[in-house]
Amino acid sequence: MKEKLIEAAIKAKEKAYAPYSNFHVGAALLANGKIFTGFNIENASYSLTVCAERVAGINAIVDDCKDFEKIAVAACVEDFIIPCGACLQFLAEFVSDLEIILVNGRGDSKAITLRNLLPSPFSL
Ligand code: THU
Repeated sequence: MKEKLIEAAIKAKEKAYAPYSNFHVGAALLANGKIFTGFNIENASYSLTVCAERVAGINAIVDDCKDFEKIAVAACVEDFIIPCGACLQFLAEFVSDLEIILVNGRGDSKAITLRNLLPSPFSL
C-alpha cells in the first residue's frame, strides 16, 4: 500500500496548477481503504492557493471517508518537504495520528508522523 500511495502522489503532482511558484506538489491519502489524490492549486490572488494535502483531504471527505490512515506527499525538488502548519491542522481534525510519507523529486521516501510534527493541534 505504501508503494501505491507513493506512486499516486507522484502522479498527482503532474496535475499541479502552480503557474506562480512553479513548485509542484502531489498528495495521496489513504482513507477508509481508498486512495484520494490532490495537488496544489494556486491563484493569482496568492493567498487563495490550496495545498496538495488539503485537496486530497477534501476529496476524501466529499466521498464520506474520514478515517485517514496514511498520506504520501510528493515534492518536485531533491529535499523532502514537510506539510505546512495549516495542512497539519487540517489533517489533525480527522485523525489523532497519521503516518506521513515524504517523497522527494527523486522518488526517495521517508516516514514521519503527524503527531511528531504537530503535537498540540488546536481543538475546541
Ligand atoms: N505546497 C503544497 O501544496 N504542499 C506543501 O506541503 C507545501 C507547499 C504548495 C503551495 C504552493 O502552491 C507551493 O507549494 C509553493 O508554496
